[in-house]
Amino acid sequence: MILEILKYPHPSLKAKAEKVRALDDEVIRLIDDMVETLYASPGVGLAAPQVGHSLRVIAIDVSRNSGNSNRRAKDPGHGLMILINPAILYQEGEKMVREGCLSLPEYTANVKRARRVVVNGLDRNWNPVELTSKDFEAVALQHEIDHLEGILFIERVGSLKTDLFRRKDMD
Ligand code: NI
Repeated sequence: MILEILKYPHPSLKAKAEKVRALDDEVIRLIDDMVETLYASPGVGLAAPQVGHSLRVIAIDVSRNSGNSNRRAKDPGHGLMILINPAILYQEGEKMVREGCLSLPEYTANVKRARRVVVNGLDRNWNPVELTSKDFEAVALQHEIDHLEGILFIERVGSLKTDLFRRKDMD
């Protein structure tokens, strides 16, 4: 089922999400719905709080077109990634990237992110995973894990005057 993506300033986007305790039917359905919702959207990542579930679940796929920028990531990364209770174990490097968010569809912003991250968590079968990610996918991971803390990318912007952009100003 395609879920409604909540828009800023919905309170669900500001809340710290709860750890998932078990892979029950509710979580399995949430994951399926998040994947369906992600693929029906122009984005490359989605976090459960964006669809009204205060749970630590993210879905990312940078191998697909990002509809708004209409460009394919040069590096497809790990393809579809579902992570439950994800955590960043290690990060290195720094880069400024232009980000967008399905919950703030009218804006993009320059955000400083780590270039490479090592992340762990549980996959959709409740198996522990640890993976290294870089560049575009690493940025998506940092963005989605921020959502689980109730942090939006606009809060990472250095200057709202010079680093925040309306989408119509792009291209
Ligand atoms: Ni987002």
